[in-house]
Amino acid sequence: MALLIKNGEIVTASQRYRADIWCEGETITRIAPNIAPPPGAEVVDATGKYVFPGFIDPHVHIYLPFMGTFAKDTYETGSQAAVIGGTTTFIDICIPGPADDPMAAFERWNAQSTGKSACDYSYHLAVTRFDDRAEQQIRHVVAAGISSFKVFLAYKDALNLPDDELLGLLKLAKELGVVTTAHCENASLVFERQQQLLAQGKRGPEWHEPSRPPVVEAEGVHHLLTFAEIVGAPIYIVHLSCDEALRVALAARCRGVNVWIETLIQYLLLDKTWAERSEFEGAKYVMSPPLRDKRHQQVLWSAIRSGLIDTVATDHAPFDFADQKAMGKDDFTKIPNGIPGIEDRVNLLYTYGVKRGRIDLHRFVEIASTQPAKIFSLFPKKGTIQPGSDADLVVYDPDYRGTLSAQTQMMNVDYSAFEGFAIEGRPHVVTVRGQIAAQEGLFVGIPGRGQLLRRAASL
Ligand code: URP
Ligand code: ZN
Ligand code: ZN
Repeated sequence: MALLIKNGEIVTASQRYRADIWCEGETITRIAPNIAPPPGAEVVDATGKYVFPGFIDPHVHIYLPFMGTFAKDTYETGSQAAVIGGTTTFIDICIPGPADDPMAAFERWNAQSTGKSACDYSYHLAVTRFDDRAEQQIRHVVAAGISSFKVFLAYKDALNLPDDELLGLLKLAKELGVVTTAHCENASLVFERQQQLLAQGKRGPEWHEPSRPPVVEAEGVHHLLTFAEIVGAPIYIVHLSCDEALRVALAARCRGVNVWIETLIQYLLLDKTWAERSEFEGAKYVMSPPLRDKRHQQVLWSAIRSGLIDTVATDHAPFDFADQKAMGKDDFTKIPNGIPGIEDRVNLLYTYGVKRGRIDLHRFVEIASTQPAKIFSLFPKKGTIQPGSDADLVVYDPDYRGTLSAQTQMMNVDYSAFEGFAIEGRPHVVTVRGQIAAQEGLFVGIPGRGQLLRRAASL
């Protein structure tokens, strides 16, 4: 069915103007003032609303097997939560265990996602072992359209990739022209600090941050970017949390290293005192890298505003407080790391970024949609509003007022990391490839309509 979005104010990373958007099938075919609604077309009145390109979350985990359990959201629940919150594309991480084959992991992830997602999605391929067998299979997965890698310098003896294997992988990334995304914390230093703290009887969630201080993250960034500099491979640093790590990344960028930087909505709005809450409540806020001292928030916002940080993601990794976070009740190193956020990122970024005057509307669209699309080979199909782009649109109501709560969220997890946070705006209507998928906070789309986005290597 054809769809007409009328009377809205279109906002992209570089333009702001009033026009109607005509979508035929899955695609935007015309943008012009005063398009007359043809008979039978579905019409969305966007008077008083912004129209943004569908937002893209470049770093989420769906049903992630991790720390002895699985992140709670499936492709059904996670994708519907995404769409309600204005995210029409996300990139999950396909993670083989060190003993697993990359192809088997790719097939397993496809079995979990095919026909289940409400919106489009892709994966980064995590590489947790790099030998000849893995390399051959990685080449096949890239040829199948998964054109970005993920490496973990953290999570000792679980996911972290040793240096010689990292070197081999970065050479392959350069040869194939794919970007390597990286979790940068030094696994050995974290392990050492964890053992010291536990030996001192420091076992609660408040000790998670001291076990991996900013210098440990900065070392990880320096380490990875030194390898990237030698090899000449492009890097995307995920979930950068602090001033120290940012400075190291920027210094490498100044030396000519091709590096993009992602931060997360939670680092902008929450600080380490949340993980210090009593009665084990702090476990809800245990993630890696950890929430930092409040002083880092100002640094991160400034870096976003000035273009030094490229994207804002969620690293959505929901674990129930009652029975999953509780696995670390007597030992913070056993608390599953991660928090939910896929549903809330856009509204939080709009409210606490745009409305509070920290970033303008264009930067908002750029960091949460356009840049992820460009970096991960989805642009201009995704990430902008122009004829030929997918009709992924967010008709956004800036007059909406509400409050985030676990009681009302779609995400399949028993708490909200942003419980009680005021929201000053939310999607009125969200379309996925030309079909209305969410309206006023409710999912109204077709659950399994999302497609795996196969991305060409482009660097
Ligand atoms: O704490 C986090 N970030 N959990 C998810 C896994 C990861 O490191 O991205
Ligand atoms: Zn990570
Ligand atoms: Zn992650």
